Amino acid sequence: MPTSAGALYDKVRHVIPPIEWPAFSGDIEAILKLKRQRNAVILAHNYQTPEIFHCVADIVGDSLALARRAMEVEADTIVLAGVHFMAETAKLLNPEKTVLIPDTGAGCSLAESITPADVRLMRERFPGVPVVTYVNTSAAVKAESDICCTSGNARAIVESLGVPRVIMLPDEYLAQNIAKETDVEIIAWKGHCEVHELFDAGDIRDLREAHPGVMVLAHPECPPEVVAEADFAGSTAAMSDYVAREKPPRVVLLTECSMSDNVAVAHPDVEFVRPCNLCPHMKRITLPNIREALEHNRHEVTIDPRVAARARRAVERMLAV
Ligand code: 13P
Ligand code: SF4
Repeated sequence: MPTSAGALYDKVRHVIPPIEWPAFSGDIEAILKLKRQRNAVILAHNYQTPEIFHCVADIVGDSLALARRAMEVEADTIVLAGVHFMAETAKLLNPEKTVLIPDTGAGCSLAESITPADVRLMRERFPGVPVVTYVNTSAAVKAESDICCTSGNARAIVESLGVPRVIMLPDEYLAQNIAKETDVEIIAWKGHCEVHELFDAGDIRDLREAHPGVMVLAHPECPPEVVAEADFAGSTAAMSDYVAREKPPRVVLLTECSMSDNVAVAHPDVEFVRPCNLCPHMKRITLPNIREALEHNRHEVTIDPRVAARARRAVERMLAV
């Protein structure tokens, strides 16, 4: 990666207007320097804004890639530019390292939809049925689970268990979308992503009418009727790969807003139609609070060791599939 802010602007000029750049460049210079001084790396999710994603992050990707790549980190400190459950996953996989989240309020409506006691109740209701837990959950919920999954591997994880029935928590829509792809019976919870639940099938019909030929890509956290009307559904990384592979002249990504900006940087010839919904949690992460995280070593992610040991098992079991 270039080591000065000036050299980076060329990369993002397509999505960041010149007038906005001076507001970012000072923090970018400072963060690049702090990373070197502290031997730190920044992991950023695909929903981070382009000045974070393209200008200060060392590792970017969907939840699965961030978890996998977190295991390869050699630096002493990891700053997670994403939401709290992602920082917890990085900590689970790097118990000896310092993991920082720039804003502890960066939560997730799915993670908030379920508690460890809820998982225990589901087990009581469906004895012997394994629990597959989406990574968008707290470490305490993961600790009650048999195995984790992400939107990128959910079907493979469900089928890897070799059982006729699984409990899949907490995203009801992801569970319903995966149920359509597999013979395994899926018992769902009632959590929803506050960003993706806002899309509906009527939006897709309107988009097709207003933008003839548009390819519609949807995240599997969208309601099943949205996924059914879309041309493709997949994790944030799968959507990005689809654009790189198929190079559709016109595309819409039914997901969080920054995704289109980040993918557009590499594909200036693709027209991105941009109805999108903001994730208020992802948007809590900013250049100034990443800089403060590195300057003041905050906010350090800690997990009770007894919880961590059980949660780590569920994450590692997923990564082994
Ligand atoms: P991905 O794993 O597809 O990146 O999704 C994470 C997320 O929070 C989607 O809302
Ligand atoms: Fe959670 Fe939805 Fe935000 Fe992803 S987009 S972090 S699932 S609230």
